[in-house]
Amino acid sequence: MKPVAIVTGGSSNIGWACVQRFCADHRVLIADLQPPQAPLPEGVSFIQTDITSQAQCAALIQRAATQGALAALVHSAAITAEAKPFDQIDAAEWRRLLEVNLTGSFLIAQSAIALLRRSRGAMVLVSSRAARTGYAALTASGSGTKPHYCASKAGVLSLVKSLAVELAGDGVRVNAVVPGAIEGAMIPQQRWAELSARIPLGRLGLAAEVADAAHYLCSSGARYVTGHALDINGGTWMN
Ligand SMILES: NC(=O)c1ccc[n+]([C@@H]2O[C@H](COP(=O)([O-])OP(=O)(O)OC[C@H]3O[C@@H](n4cnc5c(N)ncnc54)[C@H](O)[C@@H]3O)[C@@H](O)[C@H]2O)c1
Repeated sequence: MKPVAIVTGGSSNIGWACVQRFCADHRVLIADLQPPQAPLPEGVSFIQTDITSQAQCAALIQRAATQGALAALVHSAAITAEAKPFDQIDAAEWRRLLEVNLTGSFLIAQSAIALLRRSRGAMVLVSSRAARTGYAALTASGSGTKPHYCASKAGVLSLVKSLAVELAGDGVRVNAVVPGAIEGAMIPQQRWAELSARIPLGRLGLAAEVADAAHYLCSSGARYVTGHALDINGGTWMN
């Protein structure tokens, strides 16, 4: 029987690409607020889940436990915000970004730990190049850096390190993928050409390219890789 993979945010773009990549060798549970617009591939099910709800994360994991060994958790669900100057961001907006992007990561990771320990599985959290640079674009523009998005994604990178240390003894690996500009609704299409001109590899990334990286990190090929943050950004930021 194929092992189970959970993909949060699996109904859209990067998450959906992960669903398509993982369903070749896993039974996949999509955890998202709404189902994907496309038909579900064979072996894929949708469970409506708000990752800011501890009860809904627990219900998702209970459902996963009935499906088989949880080999992989890919956490892609997140939100972004409108860019505006720092002094115009209100505290409610700041809290909402942190709640979904960082607290949601904590809740889903904590909920999944027991099953991942049992199957010595792997976790991949989706961060962002914005965590590295402090601005959510290729350059810091006059319209604002989205500091709440950047901070939430930097928090995800830190969480990956803490989890990797805490879970290594149980054989559970925890890594991050760190996308740059990826084609999809998060970046308005009218900006793609202008951004491409400033990316060393000459184009935006594809969701499938992030999915390939997440799949690798959950595979036995990455069995000695934990606590790593894998940049997928066309050469726009180098460690
Ligand atoms: N697209 C990019 O250029 C880019 C770049 C860097 C990082 N990222 C990161 O990649 C991930 C996916 O990005 P994307 O482009 O696929 O975004 P997207 O907006 O297309 O998909 C995000 C998905 O998360 C779901 N979601 C939002 N809030 C949720 C909640 N509370 N509970 C459950 N599901 C929820 C949405 O319904 C949606 O299906 C995000 O973590 C994002 O921060 C994206």
